Amino acid sequence: MSGLGGIPPEARDLEVPAATVVPTNGSGRGGVATGSSPAHDEVPAPPGDGTALLEVEDLVKYFPILGGVLRRHVADVKAVDGVSFSVKRREVFGLVGESGCGKTTLGRALLYLQPPTSGRVRLDGQDLHALKPEQLRRMRAKMQIIFQDPYGSLNPRMPVSDIIGEGLLAQGLKDHRVRMKRVEDSLEAVGLRRDYTRRYPHEFSGGQRQRIGIARALALNPEFVVCDEPVSALDVSIQSQILNLLLDLREQFGLTYLFIAHNLSVVQYISDRVGVMYLGRMVELAGVGELYERPRHPYTVALLSAVPEVDRARARKRIVLRGDVPSPVNPPSGCHFHPRCWLRERLGNPEICSTVDPRLHVVGEGHAAACHFADRIEQERDRAAKPVVAPASAPAGA
Ligand SMILES: Nc1ncnc2c1ncn2[C@@H]1O[C@H](COP(=O)(O)OP(=O)(O)OP(=O)(O)O)[C@@H](O)[C@H]1O
Ligand code: SF4
Ligand SMILES: [Mg+2]
Repeated sequence: MSGLGGIPPEARDLEVPAATVVPTNGSGRGGVATGSSPAHDEVPAPPGDGTALLEVEDLVKYFPILGGVLRRHVADVKAVDGVSFSVKRREVFGLVGESGCGKTTLGRALLYLQPPTSGRVRLDGQDLHALKPEQLRRMRAKMQIIFQDPYGSLNPRMPVSDIIGEGLLAQGLKDHRVRMKRVEDSLEAVGLRRDYTRRYPHEFSGGQRQRIGIARALALNPEFVVCDEPVSALDVSIQSQILNLLLDLREQFGLTYLFIAHNLSVVQYISDRVGVMYLGRMVELAGVGELYERPRHPYTVALLSAVPEVDRARARKRIVLRGDVPSPVNPPSGCHFHPRCWLRERLGNPEICSTVDPRLHVVGEGHAAACHFADRIEQERDRAAKPVVAPASAPAGA
C-alpha cells in the first residue's frame, strides 16, 4: 500500500488517498440476520462461523447540558443514540462517519471509559454493566484503546518503562522484573528495541510514539482493542507501516479491533466489516467488499462518491453533501439524515422520511441499512446523468 493522504474539499472530513489502496480482505461474506434491540430489529451477525467477542445492544450515550444559575439539566447531547452491532473474534470492524457523529464516544462507551447512559455491552459473554468495580477493573485488561495522537497520549515526563508498565502495575503485576520483561516483550512485538525502556517520548519520531502507544495496549494482553484514528496524525509514509503492524499483531496475538477512521481507503484496507455512523446512529453495516461495491444508504453513497479511488466506476457521479451535520442536541425528526438526503429529494420528498425513523434492517447477505428506500438506491443513482447535488441543509429538527 502506498500514498495515503490528501483531503478533497467535497469530502470535508474524509481524507482521500493519493493512490488506490487494494483491500486484502472481506467481501460481504456470510452473515445471518438476528433479532436485537427495538431500535434496530435486524442486525447482521459477523461473517463466518466464529462466535461474537463483542456484542453491543441499543447502546446510548448522552452528555447532559446544564443551564441557568441553578445548573439544571436542560438538554442532552445525543452522541450515541441506540447502536447495536457485534464483532467476531479476530475481526477488524471499521467505523466511519463525519466528524462529531459519535465514533469516539461509541468506542469509549464500549470500554466503559465513559459509562453508557443505557444499553448493553458484552465482551466474551460478560455483561459489563453487571460487573462490580473490581471485576470491571480486571476486565479492562482485556479491552484496550489506541489513541489518535501519539504525542498527546504519552506522558512526556515518564520513561517508556513507566508508560507501558503503569497499566501492568494497575492490574496488580507488582514484580518489577516480570513487569519489565513484559514491557520489553511488548516493545519488541511492535518493532522497537528492548532497551528503549529508559527513553522519554520526545526522543522518538511520531511513528515510534504510536508504536509505544500500541505496545502499551499490547502489554496487558488484551482481546479487544479500540483503535481511534490511530494513523490520522501520522505522516503518509508511516501510515501503512502502522496499519500493517496492527494486522500482523492481530494474527500473532489473536486480537479483535474496532477501527475508527475518517479515511475510507484506510478503513477499506484494514477492515473485514464496516459500520457507517450518522448523528449517533449506525445507518449502514456490511462486509467491506459489499459496502464499498453496493452501498445501500444514501449517506454511504455520498461518502464513497467523494473518494474516486474507492468508487472508480462512479467517480463522475459525485454526490456532494451540502450543509453541516445537524446538532446532536436536537436531531431532525424521522430519518436524521432527511434534511441532507439526495435520495429523498429524487423521490419527491416522501413524508415518511421526516416522520418515521427508519430501522437498521437487513437489505442483503450480511448487509443492513437504515433507509425506507434502500431498494431504490441503485436505480436512482444510476439514472442520474450528471452529478447529483444534495439539498442544502435544513435547520435541525426540520
Ligand atoms: N464529554 C463530552 N461532553 C459533551 N459533549 C461531548 C463530549 N464528548 C463528545 N461530545 C459531543 O458528542 C458528539 C460526538 O462526539 P465524538 O467525539 O464521539 O465524535 P467523533 O465521531 O469521534 O468525531 P471526530 O471524527 O471529530 O473525532 C459531538 O457532538 C461532541 O461535541
Ligand atoms: S429514509 Fe428517506 S431521508 Fe432517510 S436516508 Fe432513506 S430516503 Fe433518505
Ligand atoms: Mg473521534
